[in-house]
Amino acid sequence: MKIAFVGKGGSGKTTLSSLFVRHLAAQHLPVVAVDADINQHLGVALGLDEEEAAALPAMGARLPLIKEYLRGTNPRIASAETMIKTTPPGEGSRLLRITEDNPVYDACARRVRPGGVPDGGDVRLLATGPFTEADLGVACYHSKVGAVELCLNHLVDGRGEFVVVDMTAGSDSFASGMFTRFDMTFLVAEPTRKGMAVYRQYKEYARDYDVQLRVVGNKVQGQDDLDFLHAEAGDDLLVTVGHSDWVRAMEKGRVRPFSELEDANHKALRMMQETADASYGLRDWERYTRQMVHFHLKNAESWGNAKTGADLAAQVDPAFVLREEPVRASRPV
Ligand SMILES: Nc1ncnc2c1ncn2[C@@H]1O[C@H](COP(=O)(O)OP(=O)(O)OP(=O)(O)O)[C@@H](O)[C@H]1O
Ligand SMILES: [Mg+2]
Repeated sequence: MKIAFVGKGGSGKTTLSSLFVRHLAAQHLPVVAVDADINQHLGVALGLDEEEAAALPAMGARLPLIKEYLRGTNPRIASAETMIKTTPPGEGSRLLRITEDNPVYDACARRVRPGGVPDGGDVRLLATGPFTEADLGVACYHSKVGAVELCLNHLVDGRGEFVVVDMTAGSDSFASGMFTRFDMTFLVAEPTRKGMAVYRQYKEYARDYDVQLRVVGNKVQGQDDLDFLHAEAGDDLLVTVGHSDWVRAMEKGRVRPFSELEDANHKALRMMQETADASYGLRDWERYTRQMVHFHLKNAESWGNAKTGADLAAQVDPAFVLREEPVRASRPV
């Protein structure tokens, strides 16, 4: 299940991503956690010290390796150089799975036991790498998030295994197809007009693409905050998280056992997992593939063809549909 946390800067995306990852790790569910935010803080939020977090390999710097691996023997992709962030998989491409070992994880992922969950499972942590001024400019091919989009477009994930992506709600994810790549998008919003403006903008983009978007209110204090979120987000409001002393302690470097997180916040996390899980029924691999082709053609035309000097529309394999493979019986029956 592919889960995104988006929202305004400072709304609590990283905090809630890290709590959700802990919630899953405590159940020993397979998790790949991805830091795709402009401000790279997920590693620290999961308990790495600053030095360890800074040493995380940057996916953005390993794009050539990622492309070379994913294109496999796909005859429609002549070289890694002609592969752009939206190039879709086809016959011969290599696909990624959440629990396997592969060269992309070898190069980009680190195994992390989230702080406060000593009896939980390890998660794989990947990071796009810090964004520079150039990344945030108009030239979307600089986008470091492109590495994540490429991986999501080659990922065959099943129920009960998770990719959790901490990202911004910025225009970068709308220019590409990134915002359409998730089974569930949690828009984290404080009860403020700015938080709600980001929600409305996201909803506007999401409307035409069947994006499952739910609002998670954060730092909610009292009835007035709740009423505001209800009035602004209506049925899109899934759940709210209040001020957390557990989070405050973590911010001071005093990570307490995750079991000591406030009950109401544990309950909110369970609700989020149930909602993510229920979205499995809405999965449509054909739509998912169709959308990646749509965004690929758009990107090819607007900059990709010019940049690579190739006709990138020819990379589309019309017969290919990304999908989960039938689970093979582990022993003969
Ligand atoms: N429920 C909460 N209770 C207490 N503190 C919180 C809560 N949620 C977030 N915070 C605090 O608010 C600050 C911003 O949160 P966080 O870094 O998660 O936001 P963000 O959306 O990821 O920000 P950025 O856009 O900078 O990446 C942090 O100091 C965090 O500890
Ligand atoms: Mg953040």
